[in-house]
Parts: sequence; structure tokens; C-alpha cells
Amino acid sequence: MITRRTFVKKASLAAGIAAVSGGVGCFENKPHKEETMKFSELIEARRSVRKYAKAEISKDEMAKIVEEALNAPSWKNTETTRYYAAIGDDAKAKIWSDALPGFNAASSENAAALVAVTFVPGQSGYMGNTPANELGEMWGAYDCGLASSYFVLAAKDHGWDTLIMGIRDTAKVKAILNIPEKEILTSVIAVGKSAQPYFKNPRKPVAEVLKVV
Ligand SMILES: Cc1cc2nc3c(=O)[nH]c(=O)nc-3n(C[C@H](O)[C@H](O)[C@H](O)COP(=O)(O)O)c2cc1C
Repeated sequence: MITRRTFVKKASLAAGIAAVSGGVGCFENKPHKEETMKFSELIEARRSVRKYAKAEISKDEMAKIVEEALNAPSWKNTETTRYYAAIGDDAKAKIWSDALPGFNAASSENAAALVAVTFVPGQSGYMGNTPANELGEMWGAYDCGLASSYFVLAAKDHGWDTLIMGIRDTAKVKAILNIPEKEILTSVIAVGKSAQPYFKNPRKPVAEVLKVV
């Protein structure tokens, strides 16, 4: 959960950076929060974090976040997304040294967890044993993306920041986390406590991405 204290702290940091950077539009002052965020505030607050303070996450809290992410829709409710959460120092160290490129290892340093997200092929997007249409296995990736969205938002709601990393060494991640050969790896998601000011990457104007007929 985002407490008033953490939220106010981030808002103050953002305001401070905006002041020293001449009010660059990427930094926003956020309203104070009482207890938990409304959904509209949560999706604003979730941003990719590339600098973490040391923190630990319990197995139970990770399980709670994944339980909430399981509310994501999936093809025929097939729920083919799987999570492999490295929360121990040894597993995380191996992933940082062997399976992530230097820039992603640096961005996720100190993260409490590195979570490999995969999907089981041959189910999502299928009618029986046959792919339902031209997207084929892409439906599995589609479901996995939806599940990952729910995961990062649920994590944020629990007070954890995240970084989705698509750039990683597939074979090494799978070997380190003992992921079954047939599963398809999508990303590794860092989960941790932000040590950077709130930063919003600019977005396209709605008119560029929405056509209403
Ligand atoms: C599928 C996917 C793969 C990504 N891979 C990486 C990555 O390897 N390294 C990284 O620093 N950011 C990665 N990102 C984060 C994006 O750069 C980020 O989401 C985007 O710039 C928007 O910023 P925001 O998340 O702060 O809103 C990835 C995001 C997605 C959805």
C-alpha cells in the first residue's frame, strides 16, 4: 500500500527536482494522499524505476501481488502466465552478473526481487489444438503483457516500484531460475523501493493514437 508518508516524500522530491531543473515538464508535483490511491492516481504513479534503495520483500508479499495480478483477463481464462521470483541474494546476484546486460543490471541493482515472467505456449489463442487465428502464440504474449500490467500495478499498490526488462539473456535466465524448456520467457521485472525522484516519460497526444468513428 502507498502510505501518505511515502507519497508525500516522493511528491516533495519531485517538486525539488522541478525547482532546480527550471520546472522541466517531466517532473510533476503530486497531490497529497491520505491512505491508498485511486486507480487514476495509481496508473499515474507507476513509472519505470532505474535506481533502487536496498530492500527485501517477503515470499508472502510477492505471493499477494501475484494473487492480485491473477485477476488479469486471459484467453478463455487459460492463465498461461508464470512468475519465477528471485528474492534471495544468490539468485539475484547470478541474474545480475550473467543474465542481464550491464545497463539493466545497473538499473535494477538493489531490487528486492527479479521476477522472470513466462507463458506456457499452446493454450492461449487456441481452439482445441489449433491456433484460432493468425496471431498464433502471440496471444500468449498478449495475455502475459496484460498479466504483467496487473503485476506492476499491484506491486505499486503495495508500495513497490518496478522495471520491466525485455532485454535479457533468455537461456541464462531460464537456467538460473530452472524454468521449464517449453515456457516462453517475456521479461524480467525488477521490484524494489525507488531511490529516484518521480519521473514521467512524455506520452503521445491522445489524438495521435485514438480514432473515434
Ligand atoms: C516489453 C517491455 C520491455 C522493456 N524493456 C526494458 C529494458 O530492457 N530496459 C529498460 O530500462 N526499460 C525497459 N522497459 C521500460 C520502458 O522503457 C518504459 O516502460 C517506457 O519508457 C515508459 O516509461 P514508464 O514505464 O516510466 O512509464 C520495457 C518496457 C516494456 C513494456
